[in-house]
Amino acid sequence: MKYQEHFVKTVKHYFQRQGEEWLMGLPSLINYCEERWQLRMLAPYSLSINYVAPAVKNTGEKLVVKCCIPGKEFLNELEALRLMKGERMVSVLDWDEQRGIILLEKLEPGSCLAELENDEEACRISAIVMKKITRRLSPAEACGLPSTLDREESLKEIIRNYPEGTGPITRQMLNQALKLYTYLNGSSRERWILHGDFHPYNILDTGKDEWKAIDPKGLTGEREADLIQFMLNKLPEDKEKAYEVIKERAGIFTEELGLNKQRLLLWGYAHAVLSTSWTVDGMNYDKNFFNGIEIFRKLYEDCTRNFLEKITLN
Ligand SMILES: Nc1ncnc2c1ncn2[C@@H]1O[C@H](COP(=O)(O)OP(=O)(O)O)[C@@H](O)[C@H]1O
Ligand SMILES: [Mg+2]
Repeated sequence: MKYQEHFVKTVKHYFQRQGEEWLMGLPSLINYCEERWQLRMLAPYSLSINYVAPAVKNTGEKLVVKCCIPGKEFLNELEALRLMKGERMVSVLDWDEQRGIILLEKLEPGSCLAELENDEEACRISAIVMKKITRRLSPAEACGLPSTLDREESLKEIIRNYPEGTGPITRQMLNQALKLYTYLNGSSRERWILHGDFHPYNILDTGKDEWKAIDPKGLTGEREADLIQFMLNKLPEDKEKAYEVIKERAGIFTEELGLNKQRLLLWGYAHAVLSTSWTVDGMNYDKNFFNGIEIFRKLYEDCTRNFLEKITLN
């Protein structure tokens, strides 16, 4: 079986040996799905790290089958889909925890929000989706999803592995981002159930002028922390133009969701460092994420007339 090149590369990059074995077992996993649920799987969508394909049941019902590498991340996604269940989150039809399979309602036409040309409209639509799918947790409420503290831990691990920096990320950037994570996590007053991978490729058109979120990784923390991926996507390569786009987006999200803009920009710096580090693969890395680091710094400093470093001095 021949798979999309980018998909194979990504699976191997993130899951290494386990990923290679999973790819080898994929044809029999697809057979398993077809027999267990009496369906036919069609050609997959454009893939990144999971095998996702439209399918048709013997009864004619259309659906989507998502096959993931079993483990904690898969279970978090399943839990997030359950916790965020509602009119703006894709519905789950069935699942197999052990094999990493989820059957989903098929969203049609299913084009993603990233295809919308008008960036302001895309931001306003996504703010509505975010409002509907997130929920504030009461202080004592337990939730097994990863939190923004786990993001801080993830950055600490990168620093342990690459104390001098990784790819284009310098030691200073890593340390500054860690200080910001510690500051932000230590001073946050709200805890929400969040999507965890909220960006315009994970918001799909359902036709009725309503858009639904798919693919939640699950996260808890402030809403400000969950908007950074969105802001780092679909950016012009030119840094000055990208600055203007992020500035506009930060303004819209702050207004629509009643956010704290300064904290949004600080989460922006910290997350841009972390997410760029995740993409470093030899000489390759995500250039938009990387440009985002200095853009968030500049936006913060322009907005507050204060140096970013000052926030973490005391
Ligand atoms: N429920 C669905 N209805 C229609 N298309 C879907 C659905 N779920 C996923 N897709 C398509 O499959 C692609 C990959 O699915 P996604 O869950 O985002 O996988 P990944 O976790 O690998 O990013 C999406 O970008 C979208 O095009
Ligand atoms: Mg996705």
